[in-house]
Amino acid sequence: MKKILLGLLGLTALTAMAAPLTEAEIDAAVADLIGKMTVEEKVGQLNQLSGRGLDPGMVALVAEGKVGSLLNEVDPATVNALQRQAVENSRLGIPLIIARDVIHGFKTIFPIPLGQAASWNEDVVRQGARIAADEASSVGVRWTFSPMVDIARDARWGRIAEGFGEDPVLASRLGVAMVEGYQGDDLSKPNTMAACVKHFAGYGAAESGKDYNTTWIPEVLLRDVYLPPFKAAADAGAATFMCSFNDINGVPSSGNRYLLHDILRDEWGWNGLIVSDWGSIEQMRNHGFSRDLREAALQGAKATVDVDMENYAYTQHLADLVASGEVSMDELDAMVANVLRLKYKLGLFDNPYVDETAVAFYAPASLDAARRAVEESAILLKNNGVLPIDFNAVKTVAVVGPMADAQHDQAGTWVFDLEKEHSVTPLMTLNEKWGKKVKYAKGLAHSRDRKHDGFEEALKAAQGADVVLYFAGEEAVLSGEAHSRADINLPGAQKELLRELKMAGKPVVMIVQAGRPLTIADDAELCDAVVYLFHGGTMAGPGIVNVLSGEVNPSGKLPVSFPKMVGQLPLYYNHKNTGRPAEGITYIDDIELEAGQTSTGCTSFFLDAGDGPAFPFGYGLSYTTFEYGTPRLSSAEIAPDGSVTVVCDVTNSGSVAGSEVAQLYVRDLVGSLARPVKELKDFQKISLQPGETKTVVFNLPASSLGFTNLKNEYVVEPGDFQLWVAGDSASGTPVAFAIK
Ligand code: BGC
Repeated sequence: MKKILLGLLGLTALTAMAAPLTEAEIDAAVADLIGKMTVEEKVGQLNQLSGRGLDPGMVALVAEGKVGSLLNEVDPATVNALQRQAVENSRLGIPLIIARDVIHGFKTIFPIPLGQAASWNEDVVRQGARIAADEASSVGVRWTFSPMVDIARDARWGRIAEGFGEDPVLASRLGVAMVEGYQGDDLSKPNTMAACVKHFAGYGAAESGKDYNTTWIPEVLLRDVYLPPFKAAADAGAATFMCSFNDINGVPSSGNRYLLHDILRDEWGWNGLIVSDWGSIEQMRNHGFSRDLREAALQGAKATVDVDMENYAYTQHLADLVASGEVSMDELDAMVANVLRLKYKLGLFDNPYVDETAVAFYAPASLDAARRAVEESAILLKNNGVLPIDFNAVKTVAVVGPMADAQHDQAGTWVFDLEKEHSVTPLMTLNEKWGKKVKYAKGLAHSRDRKHDGFEEALKAAQGADVVLYFAGEEAVLSGEAHSRADINLPGAQKELLRELKMAGKPVVMIVQAGRPLTIADDAELCDAVVYLFHGGTMAGPGIVNVLSGEVNPSGKLPVSFPKMVGQLPLYYNHKNTGRPAEGITYIDDIELEAGQTSTGCTSFFLDAGDGPAFPFGYGLSYTTFEYGTPRLSSAEIAPDGSVTVVCDVTNSGSVAGSEVAQLYVRDLVGSLARPVKELKDFQKISLQPGETKTVVFNLPASSLGFTNLKNEYVVEPGDFQLWVAGDSASGTPVAFAIK
């Protein structure tokens, strides 16, 4: 609009510098446009289809104004050709928005979100999203279906890969950073993408970790655990939300007016665009919630789902629903306004086309950033001193395993735009740096391979080496959407291959690349060191090798608890204490024959897995050691509307520089509802030289110490609390304070 005004004044050249439209200007323009639209054109704006190139049917639909946005169209020439149909040939010239699942990079692939979460570093996440936006917007993608901020407490769920783990505070902070990276400070700049916060809500609570499964989430849990990252992203200005596939307590999200309208829009005051998930409106028939597509369309519209992604529910039934009065014109207009507002915000009315000559991927700085993200995401789970490896000193290194040279699989899930030839693998990096010392024997053709044919060669390589690098893990396709697993051991014959390698009697370093926590506790016991990397993307090789060589000191921390056995799931650190917390654990092999029923004690543990995780939330080692002082509080009492300053000295007590994530946990000892044994409230990542001490300072407002009661009210209750500042969720000595 400003362009038109400036154009009339002969100032078109200034448009690049024109200030973005104000909210009021956008609202006025949207109202004006809606006033000119037919019902069919309005419904068209709500219709999102998957790209079919320049298929004549698609071209006609766009030219008739029957499509508002397209996903999965990434060829800039095609994008422009379709945009021309919308802008120049449709009656009102409303531009399309081009959307894509750009989840952890477009071409330069960053670690999967769960890996980025292991960095506990908002800068890493923000920068990754910025680079993704630069690359994807260069082909015309201006809307990404990311970040996914679903809390996941169950490693069986394949989509645990796509989120930031199990904790609401960590997921909130990183989700906001991702939104900021995509959207920048001004969405109208052509190198931005609108974020889409998904999946609203509770999708990660899928029963038994099976994708799309039912969820039962009491409102207090929903509000205290599942919703906070969504609220944080809404407050940060995320432009769009996507509703989830699952039903919560019987109501599918796509028809859940309470969630979408009452909570998201009314209670939180968020006024963006809600898109359905792919087919999630029409799938309400399968849920047994809608009699037919017409009713599904009605339920979707009433729930305030604005955009219909590949359901054909709105295109087929919305006009009729408006004609019958079941959906009012005001309701329809509100949906259309949300779409048009986004188009204005993105500057698409002024700059609908993408510059086909400016497509840019894999900038050296982007690859560097991707490598650093890997370095910060790698988690050292165990080290008996074999790491770091002085590659100059060792004579021969055996490199074994299906993930040592897996250009496709190291990229992880959701990489529709991957060009795998750009992936640099650990083997490639090792060969480049110390090629003469590397003896490679794959051992297994791929992660699921059950054949032992390659074992002999692998053992031989191990026998002739000073150290064995065993690259284990999961292929990309074993995690992600619709890729849940009920057995989360290393797949195929990888466990057996590790045991074979052990026979060489050489130090074994296991490097796991996977999309989820795997049950590797018994494998880890056999190894001298274990490094865990959630699929690391394009630069997984250089990043991981820098960690192995000590060029980079690992600083990743687990964003999820690692189970010992799959049967422990769901597993999360912020659980309740129960009336009989674990005590005097007796394991199955220690039970006497015909022992009495109560002989193992009657407390809360598993006879085979004991209690607690293999590796706790927040855990991760370093090549140095950190010592924590006792946290000091500005006051041992806080008013319910006050706050306390917590300071804690952290010392690098080892001999190399390193980074540490200082984590602040709190326990509310007694509540009107039983409270979790620990809850993360804040964290800071700091770097320390050997011998250096830094004082971390946290401001802890009492308002962050409340919870939702059974009346759905957020309450901060007076009472006694404990507080820890520690390097993971299972260590530290508590300090007492009270809210009075
Ligand atoms: C997924 C979404 C994704 C959408 C579009 C769905 O199957 O659940 O996360 O954004 O497809 O590709």
